[in-house]
Amino acid sequence: MTVLICGGAGYIGSHCIRIFAERGEDIVVLDNLETGHREALPAYVKFYHADIRDAKALSQVFEENQIEAVIHFCAYSLVGESVEKPLKYFDNNVGGMIAILQAMQKYGVNRMIFSSSAAVYGDPLHVPILETDETNPTNPYGESKRIMERMIDWVSKTSSLRYVSLRYFNVAGAASDGTIGEDHRHETHLIPLILQVPMGKREKLNIFGDQYPTKDGTCIRDYIHVEDLARAHWNALDYLRKDGQCMVCNLGSGLGYSVKEMITAAKNVTRFDIPVEVSQNRPGDPAKLVADIQKARNVLHWEPQHTSIEEIIETAWKWHRNHPNGYADK
Ligand code: UFG
Repeated sequence: MTVLICGGAGYIGSHCIRIFAERGEDIVVLDNLETGHREALPAYVKFYHADIRDAKALSQVFEENQIEAVIHFCAYSLVGESVEKPLKYFDNNVGGMIAILQAMQKYGVNRMIFSSSAAVYGDPLHVPILETDETNPTNPYGESKRIMERMIDWVSKTSSLRYVSLRYFNVAGAASDGTIGEDHRHETHLIPLILQVPMGKREKLNIFGDQYPTKDGTCIRDYIHVEDLARAHWNALDYLRKDGQCMVCNLGSGLGYSVKEMITAAKNVTRFDIPVEVSQNRPGDPAKLVADIQKARNVLHWEPQHTSIEEIIETAWKWHRNHPNGYADK
């Protein structure tokens, strides 16, 4: 039996492929390469270059392979862009979910691991955030993920579909061997932006606000290493194979670091000075997002292994240093 990884050429999908391959899984990948990279895919993987909304292409994948489960990563994920172009997000993210659920139903495939986001919580009432806490997204990206979660849940109530929705916090780092990593055409994430300074691509980092009600005034986030995150996907599939019930589950490290702490850690790792400038708050940024990860520990038998933020930044640094132009250097 085969696992279909939709969006496998992306940042998280490509790390997931490695973990699944290490565990002896047979994998096929579908990706439209709009944000993913062909170079991120290992040679042994069977690859379909197609959009998830292309019903004909999806049928071909299901006809040609004995698909047992779908790991669904295909989505646009830029919060700021989603505010400017909400329909682009609903079209791709929600539309993609409809297409894949229809294909799964047609071909009798009933296991899905879905890549959800902490963005479904919006501005939390308290931290650490529990899965049972209210979801109240503050942007179309988070709303699209909440709709997608709900769609799978409704379908599961009237079919044999079983799912795990994994709510990611801030995914960071790169493969420990430095061969695959983060490469976004339009970079908005903190760690790659900080590392652009020692790479000579940026003079300084803009800190988006230093008057938040946190220990040093800058926003606190929960950074989870991409390999730890990828491992949790395999555990989630194993859980479904053992007849686990449908559920949502947070994936973070359970630890919070401020923007200033991240800059200090990056200085220690790179041994470069990283000049900063404080600018205005970025609209919609909550002061503090930290996951309660007890459920992942208890139910998925999962524990993050890369909990030192310096270690996480070290892996990202190795990737960026060796590939200053991302996958264009491969
Ligand atoms: N930040 C800066 N300067 C920058 C970039 C980021 O100060 O140049 C700050 C942000 O204000 C934020 C923190 O660094 O406090 C992390 O920002 P990121 O953009 O790296 O990540 P976010 O927390 O905004 O977003 C992440 C994911 C989203 C997801 C969200 C869930 O990238 O996909 O968590 O809340 F929706």
